[in-house]
Amino acid sequence: MTQSRAPATRKLGAEESNFDIVHDRSQFGSAKWANQWDEFSPRVDGSGLLSLWTADMDFRAPEPVIARLREAVDHGIYGYTKRDPRHYEIVRSWFQRRHGWSVDIETLLPAPAIMPSVAAILRTFTQPGDGVIVQAPVYSPYFQVVRANGRRLLINRLRLADGAYELDLEDFERQAANGARALLLCNPHNPAGKAWTREELTSLDAICERYGILVISDEIHCDIRLNDRPHIVFSSIGDAAAAKSFICTAPTKTFNLAGVPAATLSVADPERREELFQVMQASFMLNANYFGRLALEVAYSSGDQWLDSLTRYVRDNVDLVSRRAASDLPGITPMRPDASYLIWLDARELDAKVEGVHRFFVEQAGVNLYDGRVYGPGGEGFIRLNVGCPRSVLEGALARMASALASL
Ligand SMILES: Cc1ncc(COP(=O)(O)O)c(C=O)c1O
Repeated sequence: MTQSRAPATRKLGAEESNFDIVHDRSQFGSAKWANQWDEFSPRVDGSGLLSLWTADMDFRAPEPVIARLREAVDHGIYGYTKRDPRHYEIVRSWFQRRHGWSVDIETLLPAPAIMPSVAAILRTFTQPGDGVIVQAPVYSPYFQVVRANGRRLLINRLRLADGAYELDLEDFERQAANGARALLLCNPHNPAGKAWTREELTSLDAICERYGILVISDEIHCDIRLNDRPHIVFSSIGDAAAAKSFICTAPTKTFNLAGVPAATLSVADPERREELFQVMQASFMLNANYFGRLALEVAYSSGDQWLDSLTRYVRDNVDLVSRRAASDLPGITPMRPDASYLIWLDARELDAKVEGVHRFFVEQAGVNLYDGRVYGPGGEGFIRLNVGCPRSVLEGALARMASALASL
């Protein structure tokens, strides 16, 4: 793994590196703490609940991001904004030093966020009725983006072996042969936080190559890496992979910027890049959001030390969940993530016993996790725990869950 240092090594401020601070998020309309989002949300009343479900964190962004946004807010003029060449150089440099990915700046396209980009790619390069493969259980808007755009959902179930997911390549090939035109790859995989290996990606690529399948690789969770397994950018595995792929990246999960979105795509094939550019332009998707652009640039150029510190904190939270699950949470087996701040909990036996484990913890423990059924086939009996929160909040949630289980 190539991981050169940040351009200027920065010492974190005392508050900036203190992820233990609990911030009240209720006053600015946080979806996570309102426990509401869209049709996939749990239909629960949020009052009194500890919210460890949807994927944003309860931490403040790096101080330089806040400072720059504050300056921009105080300036008071929020007009159209422009990404200059420096913007793309900042993106290139981030991926070079964090992931050893030498992306050619020419391949980069700006985007408002990941999911609108996925929709635009599907509409541009697939036809209504074409098959699109998703690997379930997976981030639920994948199902929606395929179906809502009139494409045919082809589900390739991941296989559970010894408590970890692996690819089912035989089934993948069956789906590939069933009229698939694209694979929507979650790399690393949400909800299990699995970082696909070079070998796994190469196996997928070989089948995609045989069947003429394009690969949309959603790499939004690539930056928070909890062990020494590197993140492999799909297009970096070889020229054929690069030629068929659309790499979708964003700083929004990494730096907790989901409310000020900005994203970057890399499309190595020049003709497809031009075609996508034209489609995005025709959909008026290319004007940058003022705050999103600023946040991306500052985060990618000054966020290294914050991210390293955050990663250590998240890893300790993951360790805490493993320990507490082993000692106090009978019926819950956490799957250790390679990346992200999300832990997929296997609670299948408990789910049957309490007739719905998600509802059980909401009602009996006052803890809202994400119901595994949301993630499609294979998600039944699982729950997803977001540990992007102060340790005291996590400890409180685990204690509540333990006492609900003890009273069974
Ligand atoms: C795998 C994955 N892709 C995309 C998104 C959302 O990205 P955006 O808000 O940029 O559309 C999420 C958010 O949770 C996610 O987990």
